[in-house]
Amino acid sequence: MAVSKDDIKVKGMTVGKVLFTEEQIIERATELGRQITEDYAGKQLIVLGMIKGAVLWMSELVKHIDLDVKLDFIAASSYGSSTTSSGVVKVKKDVEMDLYKKDVLIVEDIVDTGTTLAFMQKYLAERGPSSVKICSMLDKPSRRTENGARVDYTGFQVEDLFVIGYGLDYDEKFRNLPYVSYLEPEDVDKL
Ligand code: IMP
Ligand code: MG
Repeated sequence: MAVSKDDIKVKGMTVGKVLFTEEQIIERATELGRQITEDYAGKQLIVLGMIKGAVLWMSELVKHIDLDVKLDFIAASSYGSSTTSSGVVKVKKDVEMDLYKKDVLIVEDIVDTGTTLAFMQKYLAERGPSSVKICSMLDKPSRRTENGARVDYTGFQVEDLFVIGYGLDYDEKFRNLPYVSYLEPEDVDKL
């Protein structure tokens, strides 16, 4: 999808270039969905989406997982309205399904420091699942901390940019962009 840099301006912020188009994201979701189908062959899978950011990516991914799949959602927060992590993770909406002896695949928009998902893996482990793995649309490996979670299925790796779109927000804006873009670093400095 061709998008001009000038298409979106919010509060004086110009959205950067398109990093991943909708077509690229759908293609990658298709590939990973097929791989997950092979890896979990013969098993039931609970696909657990992290609200809100993972919703767009999850909807593409699950169409390509050809298994006995159930969907659930969990909401956690580690970021407030700024672009830096608070380091404190809170569960705002809990899982509804029984995870005991189930294979769980957490679906996330982006893994940055890995703090949120490291917390989530421990939190879910208390429910006694058979396995808990992670599928993230984006991964910023350069930002991972020592105790940060590692990603089992990665859509794309990104540099240390503040990315937006396809579920990712800045202050609840830009989630509906049908591509992944980023805020220009000089604009992020002003936030
Ligand atoms: P972590 O705990 O540092 O791995 O942060 C994970 C969460 O922070 C993600 O689920 C996102 O909600 C948010 N986040 C991290 N990096 C970005 C970004 O570049 N853009 C938008 N949200 C981000
Ligand atoms: Mg998130």
